[in-house]
Amino acid sequence: MMKGLVFTTFFDHCAHSFGDDMLDDIIEESGVPNDGAYTSVGTYPFEQMVDLITAMCRLTGKALPEALHDFGRFCFGKWVAYSPEFFNNKQLFDVLASIDHFHEYEVRKLYPDAELPSFKVMGRTDDRLTLRYDSCKPLANLAAGVIAGASDYLLSPVTITHFAERDASGDYVRFEIAR
Ligand code: HEM
Repeated sequence: MMKGLVFTTFFDHCAHSFGDDMLDDIIEESGVPNDGAYTSVGTYPFEQMVDLITAMCRLTGKALPEALHDFGRFCFGKWVAYSPEFFNNKQLFDVLASIDHFHEYEVRKLYPDAELPSFKVMGRTDDRLTLRYDSCKPLANLAAGVIAGASDYLLSPVTITHFAERDASGDYVRFEIAR
């Protein structure tokens, strides 16, 4: 399942990047129910988000990884407005090292039933942060975009790469964020 906030943010992103007519076309092409009426606190099947993003790629010609990355970047720009005090005047690595805390304590208050991902610090030096990303959804490119959005917002340029990994606990994604 996925919170409606992600859907409403997706519609804002499509309208902003491609215009209102294209947004209407994407909703129609995706076949989601109710003409795309979602509320931010509602909870909807993740498959509907997959259908929407797939329709967006089909109609705009964008490749899926790039489309998810662009959307993630836009998400950070929107979502930062909910809790600017958590981000303003902070160091990027400190913010990224505390996403789990932020999701669990701030986002949970508004969205108690959200299926939130987890980002654990695997290693940190002055110029490199290694994060382990675990999620029940295949959204590593979206996560890379959200991190890129945080880097833009905090005026802290970094290169972001990610790798599919596996250990005894299962599959995960390793992010390398380098200054
Ligand atoms: C650097 C900051 C952040 C990062 C890297 C981040 C990352 C992510 C990612 C990658 C997801 C997608 C779901 C998944 O991977 O399973 C997600 C979901 C979500 N995040 Fe964050 N996030 C950040 C900040 C925020 C902020 C500021 C908000 C404030 C509203 C927020 C609220 C949410 C919500 C509501 C979901 C939806 C979960 C669901 O229902 O599937 N996040 N976040």
